[in-house]
Amino acid sequence: MTSLDDLRRMVETALERSLPASAPEPILDAMRYGLMGGGKRLRPCLTLATAEAVAMRDKTPLGDARSRALPAACALELIHSYSLVHDDLPAMDDDVLRRGRPTTHVVHGDGMAVLAGDGLLTHAFALLAEGPAPADRRIRAITVLASAAGAVGMVGGQAIDLIAAGKVKSYPATPLDAETLQDMHARKTGALLRAAATLGAILAGADAATISAIDRYATDLGLAFQIIDDVLDVESSNEALGKTVGKDAAAGKPTYPALYGLEQSKQLAADSIARAKRALASARIAGLLPDIADYTLSRTN
Ligand code: IPE
Ligand code: IPE
Ligand code: MG
Ligand code: MG
Ligand code: MG
Repeated sequence: MTSLDDLRRMVETALERSLPASAPEPILDAMRYGLMGGGKRLRPCLTLATAEAVAMRDKTPLGDARSRALPAACALELIHSYSLVHDDLPAMDDDVLRRGRPTTHVVHGDGMAVLAGDGLLTHAFALLAEGPAPADRRIRAITVLASAAGAVGMVGGQAIDLIAAGKVKSYPATPLDAETLQDMHARKTGALLRAAATLGAILAGADAATISAIDRYATDLGLAFQIIDDVLDVESSNEALGKTVGKDAAAGKPTYPALYGLEQSKQLAADSIARAKRALASARIAGLLPDIADYTLSRTN
């Protein structure tokens, strides 16, 4: 069976080839800088792992599932990388370290970092539209990803985050209650992880019940992923994480450790992962998906 490392290698190779070669060199350089050189590639691996898990259970050809899911996997990583480039800008989290190196705006300037994000986001949809999957599945994938990446999903979550951190003049910062914090995490991080998993299933031709079970899996995976991100910001080091730790508390960010403390946060993440695995079992689907759930909880970067 394919391992998570095999999937990562597949993703790295495809990403190398994914950028629009005819773009002017300065913008291509900035896009490549934001996209390549590090990153766990969790979202694209999730897309491929879901497509493979569906193909294995339904006994359809693995190679077809993989090649149909690969452009979507790349699209997910382009959008995720764009979100990080913009998240690090001075107007947002103002971070200088990402994936173990200076952030895109530090190297290429703020203006080019904004444009690199725009270029990555836009190109993601071109990849998705041109893929080898049947056209009806591609159109559905485009609709799901647009909603997950946009104001209903990730962009909406980032807006809640920005307001809560007191960075929006027109909206006073208000402390988040448990429900709003969970909603913010579901949007800013959960939405893209859900899209990553469901796109793999959609492109592999899964039935509605399977797509729904995978969506429940990824919803809980996404919550656990961001809780652990918040925990690592408290407990890890710049070297291990490749980004500056301790910034959430310093910036007064709404996080799980701030609201629940470290131990309860870890317990809530573990509960989420247990729910995620139950959702998989209910659809008799496995492949690498249970391993990805365990990894999300035990990861150190
Ligand atoms: C960081 O995501 C931002 C969040 C949504 C928590 P990752 O931890 O997946 O970042 P990379 O891609 O591995 O750098
Ligand atoms: C960012 O959350 C989520 C995104 C949509 C990029 P964070 O601001 O906590 O991510 P890091 O910690 O900078 O990676
Ligand atoms: Mg942020
Ligand atoms: Mg940040
Ligand atoms: Mg964080």
